[in-house]
Amino acid sequence: SGLNKVAKSKGKLYFGTATDNIYLGDKPYVKILSNNNEFGQITPSNTMKWETIEPVRGTFNFTGGDEIVALAKRNRQLVRGHTCVWHSQLAPWVEAGKFDNSTLQSIIKDHTTKLVRHHKGDIYAWDVVNEAFNEDGTLRETVFLNTIGPSYIELAFRAARAADPRAKLYINDYNIDGLGDKSTGVYNLVKDFKRRGVPIDGVGLQAHLILGQIPTTIKENIQKFASLGVEVALTELDIRMELPVTPEKLKQQRKDYEAVISACSAVPACVGVTIWDLTDKYSWVPGWFEGEGAALPWDENLEKKPAYYGIVDGL
Ligand code: XIL
Repeated sequence: SGLNKVAKSKGKLYFGTATDNIYLGDKPYVKILSNNNEFGQITPSNTMKWETIEPVRGTFNFTGGDEIVALAKRNRQLVRGHTCVWHSQLAPWVEAGKFDNSTLQSIIKDHTTKLVRHHKGDIYAWDVVNEAFNEDGTLRETVFLNTIGPSYIELAFRAARAADPRAKLYINDYNIDGLGDKSTGVYNLVKDFKRRGVPIDGVGLQAHLILGQIPTTIKENIQKFASLGVEVALTELDIRMELPVTPEKLKQQRKDYEAVISACSAVPACVGVTIWDLTDKYSWVPGWFEGEGAALPWDENLEKKPAYYGIVDGL
């Protein structure tokens, strides 16, 4: 048994997890992370982001990303690259917004090209552009949109394709897990890219979800994206709850995990699921959502929670 083993037996490409370099000294943790029966895919949760990769213009630092790619290779795990262009965890020199349109275009092109080319052949899929949308489905105002306009997105996708023609290229976002205005915005972008021949292969549904509030239309939403001829993945799944943990909440979380996972299981175009780290010990949730946590299938002592069995049942 194991999550990846079960996922693969059901025709999925992988079951995966995010990890961060700073946790790789924790031996019991790394043992679970490296178990190919549990995880067939890894995403670096921080070290391929712009602020790390190119902290100063023209100075590239691939150390952290390389370490995770090497770990994944040793474990025969796929890697999802995260992420080329994002307004958050962006290097201050870009964020400052002091470049004109054509200069910023070449900055995006250069950053994306060097990052994707550096890992050529080693990455299953790239989150080329992350969190580009507002809740109402319009494009988010970022230094990229404000300086270049909407075409910054296709610029990044074209550069990524040229740099590693075999990597799958994804647009990735949160709150696009179920049907709604934001999901429709992404749908329209993919449709437009397909019509105009702009390279795009997949849509990443982050799936940072809340206990008892799983969208009811995840399956329909995945099917709708799939109808455009792209694949779909759940790229950052976690289901957070208000602390403290109770047995009732853990039971609900098991149900919620099963519900999300089964939506992916039901649609062949949904190729895999990635949880946003595996243990509550290293989840981003407590640091970002006050009073919330316990979002992952392993607890802080690296023991499996009911959620783990919800995933198995959903696969
Ligand atoms: C999070 C990381 O897990 C944290 O360590 C970091 O402090 C902030 O970013 N959406 C994304 C991810 O696309 O990159 C974010 O990762 C979580 C939300």
